[in-house]
Amino acid sequence: MAWRLLRPSFQATFLQDADLMKRAYVTTLCNGEGYLPGVEALGKSLEAHGTTVPRVVLVTADVSEETRRRLSKQGWQIRTVEPLENPNPRTVHLFERFSNVFTKLRAWEVVDLDKIVLLDADVITLQNIDDLFERPSLSAAPDFFLPDRFNSGVMVIEPSAEMFQRMVDALFETPSYDGGDQGFLNTFFSDWYAMDVSHRLPAGYNLQNFIFQFLQGHPSLQAALRREAKVIHYSVQKPWQAKASFTGGSQEWWKAYFGAHPEKASEWKRRWHAMEDWTFDHAVAAIIK
Ligand code: GLC
Ligand code: MN
Repeated sequence: MAWRLLRPSFQATFLQDADLMKRAYVTTLCNGEGYLPGVEALGKSLEAHGTTVPRVVLVTADVSEETRRRLSKQGWQIRTVEPLENPNPRTVHLFERFSNVFTKLRAWEVVDLDKIVLLDADVITLQNIDDLFERPSLSAAPDFFLPDRFNSGVMVIEPSAEMFQRMVDALFETPSYDGGDQGFLNTFFSDWYAMDVSHRLPAGYNLQNFIFQFLQGHPSLQAALRREAKVIHYSVQKPWQAKASFTGGSQEWWKAYFGAHPEKASEWKRRWHAMEDWTFDHAVAAIIK
């Protein structure tokens, strides 16, 4: 209960008429096709929780026709965008994955939409999050690493050509503390922490996987977790990639992914990802049971 009391109270004083508003969930596929499983799992998870809001994926030219067709069959509208290069070459050198993250800013250019819930392709939803469209721009959840900054993996934005231009103009002179879009956006919207509380999403709208895992293992937080965990974010280890962690929320990700690819679901994988005890004996038992 204490957890609930700590949440900022949120009043929908900024509600727009939902029927008149053109809105969409938007994600990006802009580092080749490496995040394709992520987009598929995200789409399934949104669908599984009953959203009727359209889904748009911004893709760069390197995404193949076959992938576009597959995503479009899964209900995604495909829009091609030009990549936006990371203006911090040193970071890209250290962290290849950050080379195209700035392409995400192109969402501000999608001006035929009034409001966007912009989601990283490495998140899944655990509940319906359509209420986010009632939030003002810019809304985001605190980042767990530095809670006075926001995490850019889940953001509510209002597209604006003028704002996009201002960002592009500022790109090369604006420091980014992490060398990615998040560091840039936190400098650009440096007043986020001091904005009205309606701009600050409860932490459950962007829970890092390791936090989810911690909460899952905490006996007295189960009810709060079920109620408040809305989005899991696999920021560091992607469940579908080689260095993935198998524990905690990875099971949730695979559930969403198997929704898109039932043919890939295998019983041992399910048991493996559901495991809480990671001693060697348990790991072996999960496979050969
Ligand atoms: C964090 C954010 C992600 C962003 C990246 C680079 O991982 O969650 O959205 O792209 O930082 O800044
Ligand atoms: Mn991410």
